[in-house]
Amino acid sequence: MPQELTVKQAANERRSIRKYTDEPISDETIKALVTTAGLAPSPWNLQPWRIIAVKDPETKAKLMEAAYGQPQVGASAVTFVIYTDMTDVLDNVENTIHPGMKDREAETAKSIRDTFAKMSEYDLHWWGRAQGYTFMGFLMLEAQSQGYATSGMLGFDPEMVKELFNLPDHVQVPALVAMGRPAEEGFSHYRHEFDAFGKII
Ligand SMILES: Cc1cc2nc3c(=O)[nH]c(=O)nc-3n(C[C@H](O)[C@H](O)[C@H](O)COP(=O)(O)O)c2cc1C
Repeated sequence: MPQELTVKQAANERRSIRKYTDEPISDETIKALVTTAGLAPSPWNLQPWRIIAVKDPETKAKLMEAAYGQPQVGASAVTFVIYTDMTDVLDNVENTIHPGMKDREAETAKSIRDTFAKMSEYDLHWWGRAQGYTFMGFLMLEAQSQGYATSGMLGFDPEMVKELFNLPDHVQVPALVAMGRPAEEGFSHYRHEFDAFGKII
């Protein structure tokens, strides 16, 4: 087992990798990675992300089709479908309120539901979608720290993905993430210098 990387090392070493070895991945490893990624923070701790980890070759082939044939899906040991479900979140708000706030649970749940009730359906679902990307970032860094490589994807047809997994119409699909042991180096980082996107005042 290689030594886990620090966050800084994982961020430095991560690249989008689209070719993988054929090393399989265990369900246990997937659960551990996803559980760590699930430590990502979200407003009110609502955790609107949901995950389908696709290992099955036949299902991966169908998912690859929905991803416009992007080969990293087929090559991956697992491809994650990250989706967000605000209807489920709001139906079960009580489950995400910390036990330490038990005495205020009803009041907190009402206040959360009232806040979202003021939003349009569109804004509500996009709010949830945004949280999916925080989860995705945690997942990619944790995968990297464990010696796996990933490739995030927005190049897919969300309607086809929803149909493939029988997901309800209202869910959002922020991204697919292919993952496996790397079989290529990927591109070196090419990023803005701090001054192009940051300011300290
Ligand atoms: C949300 C998201 C969606 C992306 N979609 C795709 C995609 O559909 N296909 C692809 O080949 N790369 C995709 N990428 C990879 C980006 O092109 C890549 O992250 C960027 O060029 C920086 O390169 P690096 O990841 O190697 O550092 C995506 C990345 C992110 C974060």
